[in-house]
Amino acid sequence: MSTAVKTTKLSKIYEGALRGRDVHALKALDLEINEGEIFAYLGPNGSGKTTTIKIILGLLFPTSGSLEVFGAKNIHSAAVKRNIGYLPEGAYYPEFLRGEEVIEYYGKLYGLHGRDLKRRLDEVIDLVGLAHARKRLVRSYSKGMRQRVGLAQALISDPKLLILDEPTTGLDPIARKEIRDILANLRNAGKTLLISSHELLEAEMISDRAGILYEGVLQAEGRLDELLLQRDTALEVDGLTPELVEKSEAAGLRVEDRLGERGKLRAPEGLSAYDAIRRCGELGLKLVSVAPRRETLEELFVRVIGAAKTSRSA
Ligand SMILES: Nc1ncnc2c1ncn2[C@@H]1O[C@H](COP(=O)(O)OP(=O)(O)OP(=O)(O)O)[C@@H](O)[C@H]1O
Ligand SMILES: [Mg+2]
Repeated sequence: MSTAVKTTKLSKIYEGALRGRDVHALKALDLEINEGEIFAYLGPNGSGKTTTIKIILGLLFPTSGSLEVFGAKNIHSAAVKRNIGYLPEGAYYPEFLRGEEVIEYYGKLYGLHGRDLKRRLDEVIDLVGLAHARKRLVRSYSKGMRQRVGLAQALISDPKLLILDEPTTGLDPIARKEIRDILANLRNAGKTLLISSHELLEAEMISDRAGILYEGVLQAEGRLDELLLQRDTALEVDGLTPELVEKSEAAGLRVEDRLGERGKLRAPEGLSAYDAIRRCGELGLKLVSVAPRRETLEELFVRVIGAAKTSRSA
């Protein structure tokens, strides 16, 4: 598997930024994003996500450390820049232009013109679902439509790497789902996506790997299926008489909910689903459903950030 982005001991100090004091925004960050994956870049406000992104884009210089983009050390070359598409956080576009004019303008910045520009313009407008509104003024656009303009401009040069800073913030559930589907399709078409987000549920749905940043230090990084531990097992049972409620509790199966003899039990962390089912059988309960419950990305986030805060104040 080749690497799309690799940073080595990347540090960034904003000198004198905080009432004359330095802000150490990134501290020897080693980050690796593989080609063809969706990488969720997570972390509380001010943890250094946007700073990292701006360094990858060549908009900010690191104080120390180095980085490579698709194996190239000179990230300022035109060839590397053409391979990166960027959707900035809270992007703003001129209100007096039509949606398609904004996207066309970015196409020209990337050196596209004539028939190539027109063809690519039609492609990206279709891809982001803006065809019906392409001739309308940006002024009349909803947040969701503006975000689609942003996505289209990020895609205009057909880049291999897409960097999206909070792509779905402020969007309604349907628009979110549509943007998410577009992003998943891009990944399936072989693109690499670096997505910074506070939407953990969403990040969990689409990303392959995640990194959690806190105060400029990567606190956790890995494949979601490795990071998210299986927590416990939820069981739905029938035949849960008052007597069996007590027996279930005594056997370590917590009764969470009960309606008549139907009930929801929760097996403790560490007890395998197999053993939980066996215990139900021994009690004479009729099993309706079993669901092993994995830790959510939000739970992981709270756990990792909580531990980082504790070790910092210790
Ligand atoms: N241009 C700047 N000058 C001075 N300090 C800055 C600048 N940009 C960011 N910082 C500081 O660097 C740290 C990291 O900020 P950054 O914007 O990278 O965080 P973030 O993870 O993107 O946060 P958010 O989730 O709020 O977008 C913060 O302490 C911030 O105040
Ligand atoms: Mg940010």
